[in-house]
Amino acid sequence: CGIVGHVGTGDALEPLLTGLQNLEYRGYDSAGIAIQNGSGIDVAKRSGTVDDLLAAIDRSRLEGHLGIGHTRWSTHGPPTDENAHPHTDTTADVAVVHNGIIENYASLKTDLEAAGHEFSSDTDTEVVPHLIQHYLDRGDDMATAFRRSIDELAGSYAVAAMRDGEHSLYAARNGSPLVVGIAKDGYYLASDVPAFLEYTDDVIYLEDGDVVELGPDGCSITDATGEAVRRRRERVEWDPEETGKGEFDHYMLKEITEQPTSIAQATEGRYDSRTGAVSFETVPDGTFSDVDRVVLVACGTSYHAARYGEISLRRAGIDAVALLANEYGVAAPPVDERTLVVAVTQSGETADTLDALRRAGESDATTLAVTNVIGSSAARDADHRLFIRAGPEIGVAATKTFSSQAILLTMLARRIADETAGTRSPPAKADVAEARSSSVADRWSDLDRLPSLVADLLETSSAESIARRYRDDRAYFFIGRGLGYPVALEGALKFKEITYEHAEGFAAGELKHGPLALVTPETPVVTVFTGTEDAQTLKNAEEAATRGAPIVAVCPDGHPALDVADAHLRIPDVDPTLSGILATVQLQLLSYHAASLLERAIDKPRNLAKSVTVE
Ligand code: G6P
Repeated sequence: CGIVGHVGTGDALEPLLTGLQNLEYRGYDSAGIAIQNGSGIDVAKRSGTVDDLLAAIDRSRLEGHLGIGHTRWSTHGPPTDENAHPHTDTTADVAVVHNGIIENYASLKTDLEAAGHEFSSDTDTEVVPHLIQHYLDRGDDMATAFRRSIDELAGSYAVAAMRDGEHSLYAARNGSPLVVGIAKDGYYLASDVPAFLEYTDDVIYLEDGDVVELGPDGCSITDATGEAVRRRRERVEWDPEETGKGEFDHYMLKEITEQPTSIAQATEGRYDSRTGAVSFETVPDGTFSDVDRVVLVACGTSYHAARYGEISLRRAGIDAVALLANEYGVAAPPVDERTLVVAVTQSGETADTLDALRRAGESDATTLAVTNVIGSSAARDADHRLFIRAGPEIGVAATKTFSSQAILLTMLARRIADETAGTRSPPAKADVAEARSSSVADRWSDLDRLPSLVADLLETSSAESIARRYRDDRAYFFIGRGLGYPVALEGALKFKEITYEHAEGFAAGELKHGPLALVTPETPVVTVFTGTEDAQTLKNAEEAATRGAPIVAVCPDGHPALDVADAHLRIPDVDPTLSGILATVQLQLLSYHAASLLERAIDKPRNLAKSVTVE
């Protein structure tokens, strides 16, 4: 979900609506705002998108200097008008928006109902305005009532509240992101910076346990006990232009197209193309010299990037495993002081990943966050951080951040290998052979060329015509081996996310052990060739072709796979470490065009949200 708030000298409505539109990637099944209009708090909310809300509101009733807003991704209760935020107490004296889950809401609700409070929604959030009202009725002022209420909540939340007649906004954070924007005309509050980037780039990231009051007297931040705390003011470097859609129909296409730039930014100043040495400005030399095992934790697309990193690490002779963050706590692998736990997370706010990071932080392991968002929770919670510098990504389906994460993890493998050289057992034979086939200098010179190779691929891709050709098929399978396997998994995830068609990714060699039963002439098999063990992968493609499946080969020109392929997504012939990234760009385009032909809500696929801050 996304939260916004504004208090200032001007009208609050515009910044709130802009903020909601900019945060819609965090959830879009209902939206609402509450504004203090001089004669009370006016609430406008409904199921549907922010545009639906805009069409329905009466602007004249919503004039005031102070307000809050919310765009929802449902957890408790379906996306109905009643369940949309903001929620109020019985007399509509207090209005609240919330992101996260209040675990003890049922017992709080029972107590409040017993005390005469009437509820009108199925949400966990609604207990908060009632709780605040309960304390106000007892004679507390708003600041105290808010703090006392927050104290009673268990779970993860970011909450913002306002009260009729009060000139301040109140907010608290525990486990869900919240950032304050400081401008000449007042204060902004949001779950994420893009919400108010048009108004200010001067921000304070709140931390768990912080309670903030924003009003005419300034911004005061305290801990749960009311003790003042100091938080750093920072400038965010993202340009508001970057968060717009520009000439593109969809953010997703814009972000796919931005990859020549985002890839260049990910690598800039971080490797020496002559020696191959990698350095990271945020991680001091020697940080990894004791590492003998790497555990990567992540979800969704970031998990596939983590799998890419896992293979790169193992090929460099480093013991590595990538785990789904939401499975980490179930059976965490043994970690000790020589283990590096890497949380890979675009947003830095995914609750599952933060939980795994927290657990790792409680052990002796060293933790590292690989993220796109500088002030994010992951960046702050980890011992070390690496920023992928991809710029804001708004499309719910991650694209440019995958390529940047994969590259950075490849570079991390190199860095750890260098720092631990001499302390590790030698890499497996096959990898030695591969390493010999391309010298270090060649590898990094391919990295130098990667942005222009991606630019070229974007211009020449045949993904649209291939999407058109297979648009009426039953299911879509993606297979690959080695680095091609996470690429296949990511290709399938992207495809199903935005087309709503059935798509699955498999290890190429595993096809014959079960999935082959699904293969028919109506199931195209997209086969990714990344330049290692391609001969075996070709055999797997042939097994599918024999069963009548159309084969879409993702490979360089002149590749033997083209003899069995029905369609070709061309990638340049580069170092195998990097060809998976080029293959991914082709698969992103394939998904995009398939979804576009099906007229899907590409930037906001149903039921999904870009950043899932609940477990
Ligand atoms: C959500 C998004 C996915 C994303 C995943 C992890 O589920 O819909 O696209 O990959 O979260 O997000 P993160 O910000 O941790 O990379």
